[in-house]
Amino acid sequence: SRCLALVPAAGGGSRMGADRPKQYLDLAGAPLLAHTLRRLLAEPRLARVLVVLAPDDVWFDRFDWPRDVRLEILRVGGATRAESVRNGLLHAGAAADDWVLVHDAARCCLPPDALDRLIDTLQADPVGGLLALPVADTLKRETSGQRVAQTVSREGLWLAQTPQMFRAGMLALALDRPLDRAVTDEASAIERLGLVPRLVTGDALNFKVTWPHDLVLARAVLGLDNA
Ligand code: CTP
Ligand code: MG
Repeated sequence: SRCLALVPAAGGGSRMGADRPKQYLDLAGAPLLAHTLRRLLAEPRLARVLVVLAPDDVWFDRFDWPRDVRLEILRVGGATRAESVRNGLLHAGAAADDWVLVHDAARCCLPPDALDRLIDTLQADPVGGLLALPVADTLKRETSGQRVAQTVSREGLWLAQTPQMFRAGMLALALDRPLDRAVTDEASAIERLGLVPRLVTGDALNFKVTWPHDLVLARAVLGLDNA
């Protein structure tokens, strides 16, 4: 069955606090989103790459984008990431058994071997899964006044990344219900169906550009890449 990528890119980037949504910030000579798309389009097993923009996006048309017939733009973004993904999926016209790889626009440094590993590991899986990394740091739960209430064991805890890879039909079913605030990724919606997504080892370089300091890291990684 086919694989397609769905890239939610309809966020406003409030934590970045820039003059534009972070997906349009310049990194090593191109908008952040262009790097994300370039890395997805480099994967020949992706038959389509669908980008979900906000309906009122005024930035996309100001830049050049990779020329590739597999790239499609959908201006159907919603108020939350989950809504943007759900709307994108509704407009994708995917077959129920197509694999959909949902990938944050803001993860522009996705290493090619991590993407390969995800597809290799899951293409015969009954459920699907996601890239994720074991938690490295010690975890603290806070009490009032920013003091430590408790040290939480990191044993068995992983940080969820993207892409998250599920069958289009199963994902549509998972997202076609009232979405509570706990659904911050596709896997959690799938879990609510009682299904058990697989964890595939991701990569620290596949971080999500969220805060201003993330731009320093992303520019360093992408600059190396262009050298
Ligand atoms: N996203 C989206 N639609 C939304 C909100 C987010 O498509 N309504 C996308 C973002 O564009 C981003 C990805 O989901 O690529 C991950 O979200 P996040 O990192 O939170 O981006 P923003 O919501 O833009 O940033 P912030 O939360 O700081 O405002
Ligand atoms: Mg957000």
